[in-house]
Amino acid sequence: MSRTTAPPRRTRTALISACALVAAGLATATGMSGTAHAASVACNVTYTTNDWGSGFTANVAVTNSGTAALDSWTLTYNYTGNQKLTNGWNATWSQSGSTVTAKGIDWNKSIAAGATAGAGAQFSYSGTNAAPTSYAVNGTTCNGATGPTDPPTDPPTDPPTSGSLVDNPYVGAGVYVNPEWSALAAAEPGGSKISSQPTAVWLDRIAAIKGVNGGMGLRDHLDAAVKQASGKPFVVQLVIYDLPGRDCAALASNGELGATEIDRYKSEYIDPIAAVLKDPAYANLRIVTTIEPDSLPNLVTNTSDRPTGTPQCDTMKANGNYITGVGYALNKLGAVGNVYNYLDVGHHGWIGWDDNFNSTAQILHQAATASGATVADVQGIIANTANYGATTEPYFTINDAVNGTSVRQSKWVDWNRYVDEQSFAQAFRTELVSVGFDSKIGALIDTSRNGWGGSARPTAPAAKTTLDGYVDGSRTDKRIHLGNWCNQSGAGIGERPKAAPAAGIDAYVWVKPPGESDGASSAISNDEGKGFDRMCDPTYTGNARNGNSMSGALPNAPLAGHWFSAQFQQLLKNAYPAL
Ligand code: BGC
Repeated sequence: MSRTTAPPRRTRTALISACALVAAGLATATGMSGTAHAASVACNVTYTTNDWGSGFTANVAVTNSGTAALDSWTLTYNYTGNQKLTNGWNATWSQSGSTVTAKGIDWNKSIAAGATAGAGAQFSYSGTNAAPTSYAVNGTTCNGATGPTDPPTDPPTDPPTSGSLVDNPYVGAGVYVNPEWSALAAAEPGGSKISSQPTAVWLDRIAAIKGVNGGMGLRDHLDAAVKQASGKPFVVQLVIYDLPGRDCAALASNGELGATEIDRYKSEYIDPIAAVLKDPAYANLRIVTTIEPDSLPNLVTNTSDRPTGTPQCDTMKANGNYITGVGYALNKLGAVGNVYNYLDVGHHGWIGWDDNFNSTAQILHQAATASGATVADVQGIIANTANYGATTEPYFTINDAVNGTSVRQSKWVDWNRYVDEQSFAQAFRTELVSVGFDSKIGALIDTSRNGWGGSARPTAPAAKTTLDGYVDGSRTDKRIHLGNWCNQSGAGIGERPKAAPAAGIDAYVWVKPPGESDGASSAISNDEGKGFDRMCDPTYTGNARNGNSMSGALPNAPLAGHWFSAQFQQLLKNAYPAL
């Protein structure tokens, strides 16, 4: 990933008004009463496993076979062997001795009469792994009596979403927990605090479609998602990330395709992905894509008409392959009835300057109408993908001044129009509508690593003595420079994934999986096409894109996308909200 800032602009224009759509509230309707009375519960539980000899994942589907809605459900069952819970998803899982408990969470805790809620968990074991013989919900034994489980006879009650996109796919829906990331997170000390959170699946090379090194491929993830969904509305998050000449302003995430290999991008990458997504088996999933992080903004800010330009970005601008590729992806994936495309828009510390704001909107529109795509193929935008910009800065705003001088003139803000991601995403959403995008588009914000908690976090605005003193003492984003983007020292886990958190914002999401590196801190040979970017080297003193500042990167980092335990630990420690 490259994350770059622009040269400061000295213009002052009126603030663009942020009259964003008011997104619908969360659809999870819970009744006035608490847990339904045990006596009124009638339930059916199915239990399926995927067992590899020393461990397994279990999926449970809890059907409310009674005539009244269940306000909340708590499933309990017993094992007869030494099965031990590692982590779980779509429910709060716990274990005491041989008894396992799964409690429905916000979005799936209420089950309408005849409807089903699903959850899953991973366990380790040795010896035998017999299925439980009895299940209880809220203390009442299910499945008629004890004994074997019957498959639920009731069809899912939620209408399929296929072919009819909803305005905000996250509302009232569960979100896919990637079992591979979840297991890595759960294996870290303290990692179980976040290992049940949904994260995106990155299709970062052609081989990722089938699965890299025996890992899960696209179909494996979608099959697992169908199980996790259990017939409920359910989002799966994919990142489309393999453009020719990828990441032209940085080296850490250069990809496998050369600058001219647009035909391979189409036929070996996008077409096979579209073919899998079209499978009717996945028609009820809401497939959310993040389309090509960083590419289009790079065409605006990092070509040689700017001091920050690179020859690689000049090449990609001249050959048009970012535009062609993004248009192709939007068109082909948008043709699948249940795909929601979200275009990557960089972040406030990149596109938030006047020079970049409208020109990026224009180039996004150009891509959204290239290769047969139309704006109807774009359901939204995503800001801050894999970056560190705070969602909101609570202790200062862009309208503040110190002794009559605007904070825009401070060293940190440097004439940007925004101090945080949410105000930027809302305004940029409006800008996109004004250049021709659909007025119903929504924004996502990647909040996986922008928490900035811990002991360095301010708790109040600083005194208005000097301009820089006020801004630096008030800001929670503690980067050395806004343009720093690689494995940032001091960062923490940000807002937990959440549907419809603010006007115009479809969801807070975790697209960059916490614990995966942004880039190696020294050169490491590899077969992924990844280069060594000195922005990931903690001893680097910077370049024009970060105001010639120190990189602020953590030491000893592995290649981009590889597991970086020390970073994961830091993110847990500095989480905000705290974990
Ligand atoms: C890397 C990808 C990786 C992704 C998620 C990117 O920076 O280039 O290989 O899948 O991050 O960690």
